[in-house]
Amino acid sequence: MRDFPDKHLVLDDRVREVLRRLEHEDADERARGLPAEQRSRQVARTTGQFLFALVAPQTGCEVLEIGGSRGYSSVWLAAGVRHLGGRLLSFEHDPTKIEAWHRNVSAAGLADWAQLVEGDARETLPGIDDVFDVCFLDAEKGDYELYFGLARGKLEPGGVVVADNVLSHAETLGAYSSSRQADPSLESVTVPLDRGLELSVVLRQPLQ
Ligand SMILES: C[S@@+](CC[C@H](N)C(=O)[O-])C[C@H]1O[C@@H](n2cnc3c(N)ncnc32)[C@H](O)[C@@H]1O
Repeated sequence: MRDFPDKHLVLDDRVREVLRRLEHEDADERARGLPAEQRSRQVARTTGQFLFALVAPQTGCEVLEIGGSRGYSSVWLAAGVRHLGGRLLSFEHDPTKIEAWHRNVSAAGLADWAQLVEGDARETLPGIDDVFDVCFLDAEKGDYELYFGLARGKLEPGGVVVADNVLSHAETLGAYSSSRQADPSLESVTVPLDRGLELSVVLRQPLQ
């Protein structure tokens, strides 16, 4: 029997406590002016809520996340998929972040619903054969095209790719949004939430 405290409580106290602590840590590290590579670079709380809302209503939702960091967005996603029996597969290569990811996901009581692939996602992702319903891209902006191409083959019609930072990094990711919106095999829209999310729904398999 899995450790599920209250089947009617989708966001329980353990999850809320970890999210709250990570939000405080992030605010504190920003206030102290820590360089970006030493911070979690986690999504805003409202983006976490959005991701949660995207996956929680889906039965058996399989989620792929590139850029797990210390687990803030992973906790939102894993809490969402736990409700109706899905799974999160996240990717991270920084050893300090990997250690923190495991600690935080376990503290939230979500270790049975989330798994981390450790190492460079550019090398590890091609070896994953699974099919996913939702893919969240939140790693280095210059790699988004590569990740989209790799993830695209793992999504069936109805699947969604969510890419973060398309407005905050429009100079790099504007081309990403334009390409997705010009692709007739997708329905893609820029959602102006926080740093900007490109939401791309797969309509059919790409033409060969
Ligand atoms: C913006 S942060 C992710 C924040 C996280 N999604 C959250 O909201 O908590 C980007 C993360 O991607 C990781 N990353 C960057 N390039 C990577 C790669 N090639 N393979 C695996 N992880 C990578 C970084 O180490 C960093 O932790």
